[in-house]
Parts: sequence; C-alpha cells; structure tokens
Amino acid sequence: MRLLLCTGNPGKLAELRKLLPSGMELLTLQGAGLPTDLPETGHTFAENALQKARFAFARTGLPCIADDSGLEVQALNGAPGVDTAFYAGPQKNDRANMAKLLHELEGTADRRARFRTVIAYVDSGGEHVFEGEVRGTITTELRGTNGFGYDPVFLPEMSDLTFAELDNVHKNAISHRGHAVWKLVRFLAER
Ligand code: IMP
Repeated sequence: MRLLLCTGNPGKLAELRKLLPSGMELLTLQGAGLPTDLPETGHTFAENALQKARFAFARTGLPCIADDSGLEVQALNGAPGVDTAFYAGPQKNDRANMAKLLHELEGTADRRARFRTVIAYVDSGGEHVFEGEVRGTITTELRGTNGFGYDPVFLPEMSDLTFAELDNVHKNAISHRGHAVWKLVRFLAER
C-alpha cells in the first residue's frame, strides 16, 4: 500500500515512519511535488488535519495521512492548543516556544498538560480521523536532546524522563502520535 505522509515537519515524519508498518510504501510531500507547508486555517486539530490531507489527496489522488497536534496546558486554559507551533510567533521556533511556555508557567504549581494528535486519513473511500493523547506535566527547565518540538519540557505521566530524554522507541510506545497511529493501522488492517 502507498501512503502520502502530509507533513513537512522532519520530527513528525521520522516518528510516522517508525510507527507505520514496514510493508507500506511511504511518500513525502516533497517526493510528491507538493509544498511542505500545507494550509492549516482551522480552529481544531481535526479541522487542520483534514484540511492538510484533503489538500494533498485532491492534488495526487493518493491515500493521504496528515497529523495535526499540539500541547494543552491546564493552567493556561488549554493554550497553546492549535497555536502550539506558532506560540512565540510565526517563525515556528521550538526554543522560543518552550521559553515562552516556561515563562508563562513561572511560579505556577499546577503544571499538568497533555499532548494531543489528530491523524486524518483521506482516500477515494472517504475521510477518517484518529485521535491520540498523552498526559503529563511541564518541567521547569529543558531536559534532554532527543525528539523534536516541545519534547524537552514534557514529562509524561508515570515517567521520570522527559520525551527528549526517552529514545524514540519508548516515546512512540506511549505518545499521543503512537496512540493515534495504532488506531489508523487497525482501521487499515480491518478494511
Ligand atoms: P502542527 O501540528 O504542525 O500544527 O504543529 C504542532 C506543534 O506541536 C509544533 O510546534 C510541534 O513541534 C509540536 N509537537 C507536535 N507533536 C510533538 C511531539 O511529539 N513532541 C514535541 N512537540 C510536538
């Protein structure tokens, strides 16, 4: 089966490649001749994921999957949410985003947060979405160098190590993306 992975984020791409079964032929936006920054103007993760997958499917006719994800922090009433990538500005800078988050939470005891992912799958048979989440807390400083994005400040529940201190096998086993991809894989296998 051929699948087009509709993300220009190298971190997401690497995780999706590890999580999807090895028998699948995985294509990238670049490989399909599409821009790597697909439009995402929705107000929810699902709207954005569907928008990206629909865009790519309309242009290629290939089965497409798109991931839209973000961090919801309890003490910030769910922010940064859909704006996670742009939290500190349009440049999508991970360091600046994490610095802003730690600054916003300075002196805050309640550091509970969750990562959410919605994966949209679009092919000629229709559209489907699969959700995953992982709960945890935001650290008070950056810890670890693995992974991508906000991994150095996210401490998953039941773990002493941040996502950036875990290796990719352990992160994928518990992550929001891992959960959503398992649902997608089960759906594809059952069809
Ligand atoms: P989007 O899904 O492209 O809108 O961006 C998601 C935002 O959440 C980006 O800032 C990513 O770096 C961040 N993000 C998504 N998944 C993860 C993850 O697994 N670890 C750390 N940051 C993530």
